[in-house]
Amino acid sequence: MNGSLLARWRRRWWRPDPTALSAYEGLRPITLITGGSEGIGFALAQRFASHGHELLLVARTAEKLAQAQRALAATSRAQVHTLALDITSDQAIERIDAELRKLGGLCDVLVNCAGIGLSGPFADEPEEKVTALVDLNVRALTRLTSHYLRPMLVRGEGGILNLASVGSYGPGPNQAAYYASKAYVLSLTEAIGYETAGMGIRVCALAPGPVRTGFHARMGARRALYRAFTPPVSPALVAWLGFWGYRLGARVVWPGLVTPLAALSMRLIPHRLLNPIVSTLLSPRR
Ligand SMILES: NC(=O)c1ccc[n+]([C@@H]2O[C@H](COP(=O)([O-])OP(=O)(O)OC[C@H]3O[C@@H](n4cnc5c(N)ncnc54)[C@H](OP(=O)(O)O)[C@@H]3O)[C@@H](O)[C@H]2O)c1
Repeated sequence: MNGSLLARWRRRWWRPDPTALSAYEGLRPITLITGGSEGIGFALAQRFASHGHELLLVARTAEKLAQAQRALAATSRAQVHTLALDITSDQAIERIDAELRKLGGLCDVLVNCAGIGLSGPFADEPEEKVTALVDLNVRALTRLTSHYLRPMLVRGEGGILNLASVGSYGPGPNQAAYYASKAYVLSLTEAIGYETAGMGIRVCALAPGPVRTGFHARMGARRALYRAFTPPVSPALVAWLGFWGYRLGARVVWPGLVTPLAALSMRLIPHRLLNPIVSTLLSPRR
């Protein structure tokens, strides 16, 4: 793609600063995927690996990371590194930077995929759980985005793929904090994408509806009505559409056929009407 018309268009406002650029000379581009050990993150890891990206997968559980690494080694030739780390910890960025230094690499593509949900009325959720959700879905994602965006702008290449959701498009009674966190992710990503247009980088939000992963069970929504009405799509399909949307410079990707319609409806329907519908669909029915 380098040297192509599209690449030149992507860099139309970028001006190289040779002094700043020299700091990155000789470093290998690495794709950093948070939550890369399973679910959508792992499917994205497979997609990036199949296109030759060297990967650094980050998640908390070392065994799941090792499993993912073995599975990727069996299906691609890409180099895959792992780091067992809670990305909400204060030292997370230091630890990732140290790992990148050790590998002789830099964060070329940042995929912010790690995320958690909460299901049920907001008032019933313990404060620690809500704080943990905001720490991961909002704070950690924002810190990583802020930290790795600047070097990308200096280099005039690389990019960020953030996991939003169809829930980014309206209030989510019974998943209030989760929907609010994903609204933040979409808003942040679209705004940064606009601010950095023409600077050589890609910034994209991937906004799926329900996907077949362990996510819904973990958040206690296994029996919620939306699970019956919106059959989940496969992580592989989401990753395929997300990868190509990102590569082609889309600002937002809604994977599947139902998801764009759901996102559009949530944007158009007045919230007084939308709230009871969404509340019923998201009710955990324990
Ligand atoms: N599944 C869906 O239907 C759906 C729909 C729309 C959007 N999304 C979004 O897509 C993203 C991925 O969802 P998924 O379904 O793939 O989830 P998942 O299957 O539950 O996987 C979550 C991943 O994040 C990691 N993780 C969780 N907490 C972490 C932490 N504190 N630090 C580092 N890693 C952490 C997990 O590994 P460890 O537990 O080992 O840390 C795991 O690798 C989330 O942001 C979610 O909001 C999902």
